[in-house]
Amino acid sequence: MAPLPSPRKLTCDAATAAVHAHGAHVVEWTPAGHLPVLWMSAESWADSDKPIRGGIPVCFPWFGAGRSGGMAPAHGYARIQPWQMHGATQDGDASTLVLELAGSGTAAFPHPLLARLTVRSGRELHLELTVTNTGDAPVTFEEALHTYLVVGDIRDVRVIGLDECQYVDKAPGAAAGLQHQIGDIVFAGETDRVYRSTDDIVLEDPRLRRRIIVRRSGSANAVVWNPWIDKAAAMPDFGDDEWQGMVCIEGANVLGDAIELQPGASHTMGYTLAVEHLT
Ligand code: BG6
Repeated sequence: MAPLPSPRKLTCDAATAAVHAHGAHVVEWTPAGHLPVLWMSAESWADSDKPIRGGIPVCFPWFGAGRSGGMAPAHGYARIQPWQMHGATQDGDASTLVLELAGSGTAAFPHPLLARLTVRSGRELHLELTVTNTGDAPVTFEEALHTYLVVGDIRDVRVIGLDECQYVDKAPGAAAGLQHQIGDIVFAGETDRVYRSTDDIVLEDPRLRRRIIVRRSGSANAVVWNPWIDKAAAMPDFGDDEWQGMVCIEGANVLGDAIELQPGASHTMGYTLAVEHLT
């Protein structure tokens, strides 16, 4: 275990951002004229063998404990590996950083894959995760850009854009099988859902008087997560009261929407954040 070095800062007129090589983890994005958009836990680990709590974890090549369960570490190895960071470039009003992780997998997942994450910070934050199968056999993997967003109070926000979508409910005690969303999502307890959706999602936050827009490409799933009281208290790297100020809206390809890649083939998932003041 070693303490994490400082993240790389990406600065341009339109925004500031910060990215760790550890996990290719974006830990800050603040567009000019707005409050910080990405939430970070005050209790996060800052060790080279543990995941960071907050920002945008890259979950890959499995999600949670994997499609059949039992996979470790949780959410895949990529978020606790050092990625190779390439130089930042400036174009127009944005700065871009590329990070790569090449490897042959683990004993339980012995598949050579190359992951490349492009982070473009400007008036919008745009991430692209491209995975290439560098082996000689087909491989199936899961992925998520597990974005933590700052909210004024989780009990006051509304997630718009998933009406009529089907979802798997992973919260404790939830009904099994596919569920059907009716209306916007509002929060009144632990929420852990994997939606089938490709449409844009809007997080409306009356307390912070802003709207965050989430756009995705190459992503069949959106995961919506808030741990609420008991789960927050049970997590050592999450403050007991911090659940009130965050929500995760993740772009993903998981469970039945995992990606199968033939040898030499690539897949790209895009995830974009934009923020607007509420008038
Ligand atoms: C979410 C999962 O994406 O991540 C939840 O749907 C999980 O089930 C959460 O609890 C946090 O995971 P972790 O491994 O970062 O504590």
